[in-house]
Amino acid sequence: MSETTTPKLRSRAWFDNPDNIDMTALYLERYLNFGLSQEEMQSGRPIIGIAQTGSDLSPCNRHHLVLAERVREGIRDAGGIPIEFPVHPIQETGKRPTAGLDRNLAYLGLVETLYGYPLDGVVLTIGCDKTTPACLMAAATVNLPAIALSVGPMLNGWHKGERTGSGTIVWKARQLLAAGEIDDKEFIRLVASSAPSTGYCNTMGTATTMNSLTEALGMSLPGSAAIPAPYRDRQEVAWRTGKRIVEMVAEDLKPSDILTHDAFLNAIRVNSAIGGSTNAPIHLTAIARHVGVDLPLQTWQSHGLDIPLIVNLQPAGEYLGEDFYHAGGVPAVVGQLIGQGLIAEGAMTANGRTIGENCRDARIEDEKVIRPFERPLKASAGFVVLRGNLFDSAIMKTSVIEAEFRDRYLSNPDDPDAFEGPVVVFDGPEDYHARIDDPATGITTETLLVMRGAGPIGYPGAAEVVNMRPPAHLIMDGVHALPCIGDGRQSGTSGSPSILNASPEAAANGGLALLRTGDRVRIDLYKGTADVLIDDAELAARRQELADAGGYRYPASQTPWQQIQRQVVGQLGDGAILEGAEAYQRIAQT
Ligand code: FES
Ligand code: MG
Repeated sequence: MSETTTPKLRSRAWFDNPDNIDMTALYLERYLNFGLSQEEMQSGRPIIGIAQTGSDLSPCNRHHLVLAERVREGIRDAGGIPIEFPVHPIQETGKRPTAGLDRNLAYLGLVETLYGYPLDGVVLTIGCDKTTPACLMAAATVNLPAIALSVGPMLNGWHKGERTGSGTIVWKARQLLAAGEIDDKEFIRLVASSAPSTGYCNTMGTATTMNSLTEALGMSLPGSAAIPAPYRDRQEVAWRTGKRIVEMVAEDLKPSDILTHDAFLNAIRVNSAIGGSTNAPIHLTAIARHVGVDLPLQTWQSHGLDIPLIVNLQPAGEYLGEDFYHAGGVPAVVGQLIGQGLIAEGAMTANGRTIGENCRDARIEDEKVIRPFERPLKASAGFVVLRGNLFDSAIMKTSVIEAEFRDRYLSNPDDPDAFEGPVVVFDGPEDYHARIDDPATGITTETLLVMRGAGPIGYPGAAEVVNMRPPAHLIMDGVHALPCIGDGRQSGTSGSPSILNASPEAAANGGLALLRTGDRVRIDLYKGTADVLIDDAELAARRQELADAGGYRYPASQTPWQQIQRQVVGQLGDGAILEGAEAYQRIAQT
């Protein structure tokens, strides 16, 4: 065991300030009341926070309550003093109206905690979708030495000898239910089979994406993201993470040293290669803004679109989290990209080495699950960034577009990247659920489904609802997907061909607010355009009509936070952060 003494520990201002013995006594006495000693608190050892996101309310991250014991041991073994504290709980599937609302709330709370208390460094316990960006955004703002520990994915789910993946099985089960092939009881049993253990979603949804990207950004130990939650290796890496943060404090290795522009470019490329979630651009934009890195949305297309999909995980592929780990996890993916010169190898990471040093020699252990770069599952698997008279920006994940959809919509030899059709417009998920199966809604195989009122203001936090299934009668005819457009988000576990995150949203009186059922919309993926085919005069008249009516209507806020966030939140294309918050940067030094 090594004692670490660092001259610049900020916790000394609380616990060991000879110039203000009064306050030192006050600060000290209360932290002694549960058994810490004056000797420890004044020993010059760093105080390391463990930002605990796990609780009974947050099942995906609950295993962090167990892992924190090993983190503590690691911190102690390296000479630090652990202090564990709660982070505002976020459970993706449990929070209403949507967990998206809570990302910025958890961010705010964690910023106050890291800034306002005597902490020299912090272990961020990440996992479920929004917990990861909330923690990284806060660490970026405060800029205290920080390292992330993933809770790890659940074990693979199984049903009748086949892998059942989180979320992805729900979309399939819904179709089976709508087609009358299973009943309610079988529906629940099938869905529950995908969640056999502690941990987060075992598919390449937003959780696996964000935990993988955290490692690609350099904010967690190499090889740590993919370890399944119940594995013994997960306990071991918890201990290593605890040890390492003490060294990071001694080295003064801060988020701003790791979260550089190069690190974000690396993460964007890894996101394409893994088939990452459409929530990733929102969250990485938010983290970048809080650390002061300029990362325009177009970067996702310019640096990410041409990267092939090489990870064969559901929803784009076949396998699940355990398989990803055994195949080599994130280092194997980064290793493939390094082989093509697609990684900025000098980017610093949490272990004090560069990503090149960490991953250059990483090998694929199972080529069914991680393909070599030369034999990808799909070429050009990144996001297309779209704009037009409907919105300033939106994205489409091309890697999940199924052959059926390509054949129906993208097979015109004269214009292979464009499709066009009449729209049916839904105002929010409730409207969609009420009308989707009603024959009067008039949906045909030509229809483009539009979801609006689902952005950060309209449905506070932005709902994951743009991926809409076709009506039951079309599913029974074998049509499994229609193109969807919307100002909301989409679950990372969905395989829907959707154009989403449209900004500005209808509730901010963006172009989608002017759309009417029956209008024709034309999408050109090659040109990156999405336009309603009505002339400017008609658009202007509709805009005036909307203004006269007092703007796009959306439901009233139900809680104080919904109302506060609605007043200050930005659009999805800008990371949906609390506008103005990025003015506060590197505040641990103040
Ligand atoms: Fe928490 Fe998927 S619901 S990780
Ligand atoms: Mg989600």
